[in-house]
Amino acid sequence: MKPPKSAGERERKLWLEIDENNIPSHVAIIMDGNGRWAKKRGLSRIKGHKAGAKAIENALDSALHLGVKVITVYAFSTENWVRPEYEVSVLMTLLFQFLKLQKKKLLDKDIKLSIIGDRSKLPLFVNREIDNVLEETKNNNSLIFNIALNYGGRAEIINAVKGIIEKGLKKEDISEEVFSKFLYTKDLPDPDLLIRTSGEIRVSNFLLWQIAYAELYFTDVLWPDFDTIEMLKAIIEYQKRERRFGGTGGI
Ligand code: FPP
Repeated sequence: MKPPKSAGERERKLWLEIDENNIPSHVAIIMDGNGRWAKKRGLSRIKGHKAGAKAIENALDSALHLGVKVITVYAFSTENWVRPEYEVSVLMTLLFQFLKLQKKKLLDKDIKLSIIGDRSKLPLFVNREIDNVLEETKNNNSLIFNIALNYGGRAEIINAVKGIIEKGLKKEDISEEVFSKFLYTKDLPDPDLLIRTSGEIRVSNFLLWQIAYAELYFTDVLWPDFDTIEMLKAIIEYQKRERRFGGTGGI
């Protein structure tokens, strides 16, 4: 694939290795390691989250150039509320600032915002900004930037079951396809690639239903250090995998 003009020598080489006919449509990311990144530098965890927010911007740019259609980031899980109150409130404020500051860039770059998770517990100022950016970017087409907020895979499945009961669907109406339509991700394709940074080899309740056939990529790199080079390495690794979706791959 043709490298962007801004690419340095090492990055250029990686871009040239990318097969533009085999780009994952949906890349999901568990952004882990902000705290450790900060600790290594003698900084507060908050600084780590700030650096993490910057890394998201970079991931969006790489995704755009690659032609990825959806990028989902795990920003706040249903379990994250147990973090110290101060850290939770900083994460919410960072999210608010991120959306406010990125709005113009999302519009310029034709990126559409999407949110999955239970928004009812989020602070009002965050929900207001989300609604605003959802509305402003709703007609954008180049990339969907999907943020998982107060998201848990099990909670999502339970929520889908409740939705199905509420609608009064019958046993014989239920299929995988119908069930998928009750998930937060009803309008999105399943992820082709799931990336987790910081050396933890777990899926941590993220997109449990949707990652059934995703390729999993784990790296020791801490999220704030996950730059374009790291994204390209993940895509190159993905392109080496043979996806069978339960079939034999023709053997
Ligand atoms: C994991 O690092 C990261 C998170 C819990 C949240 C990710 C948040 C951001 C990237 C910043 C704000 C988000 C947006 C959308 C602007 P950790 O704290 O678990 O790190 P550690 O495991 O090293 O302690």
